[in-house]
Amino acid sequence: MITLKSPSEIDRMREAGRIVAKTIRLCAASIVPGKTTLLEIDALGRSIIEGEGAVPSFLGYRGYPNSICLSVNEMVVHGIPDDRVLQEGDILDIDVGACVDGFHADACWTYPIGEVNAETRRLLNVTRESLFQGLAKAKPGNRVEDISATIQRYAERNGYGIVRELVGHGIGRSVHEEPSVPNYGKPGKGPVLQAGMTICVEPMVNMGTHRIKELADGWTIVTADSKYSAHYEHTILITPSGFDILTKEPDRSENHDLE
Ligand code: MF3
Ligand code: CO
Repeated sequence: MITLKSPSEIDRMREAGRIVAKTIRLCAASIVPGKTTLLEIDALGRSIIEGEGAVPSFLGYRGYPNSICLSVNEMVVHGIPDDRVLQEGDILDIDVGACVDGFHADACWTYPIGEVNAETRRLLNVTRESLFQGLAKAKPGNRVEDISATIQRYAERNGYGIVRELVGHGIGRSVHEEPSVPNYGKPGKGPVLQAGMTICVEPMVNMGTHRIKELADGWTIVTADSKYSAHYEHTILITPSGFDILTKEPDRSENHDLE
């Protein structure tokens, strides 16, 4: 069942989304190549979320042991933070969920650590652009796979592999709700989008094959060919005219009351 959210539920998701966006931004800003460990980033992320009075959505979710997912290089998603030190040339997906008064928001952004090569920058740019191309199809009357097909076409046209086994999702009272939002599909297929739906759109794009493997820890997903993978995700609300990104911070440049 796809639930439509009430204004008060949307307010809570917007607050959760603000906290998610702030957490991702500050975690990324904390990284010193050759020095920062994944566990330090996880601890910082948890303290930011809890300091805002929210709950880390992923901690304990199906037994997940940490507060945020950190996936380095060939890791696609669900990397478990450990004492690995980030190095210049790495890429890091920072995936964060937060819950405010029973409602969740979820987002992910991929960051280059120090200088990365041109092909890696292209992977990040294409993956981010595929998210926004897909989001441009998010409006009432369109169907879920209008988003999916747009993402797939854009990523594949650029020579990259789109992960099939992991998909975006509805979100609200649970992190994962209906509908599934695949990153591949056919225009005109899938559930019809309606104002009041809240969904996560999250392309996972591989530099090489779309195929993936799960590591023995039961969580970490890596590319089958060990090439780099990138992942960008926003939680959005379908509005009467299109969509609104919930996982963002207020635009400070629009605040004219500050000194
Ligand atoms: N951000 C992930 C998603 O979109 C959720 C992580 S699940 C966890 O599905 F179990 F690792 F927390
Ligand atoms: Co998600």
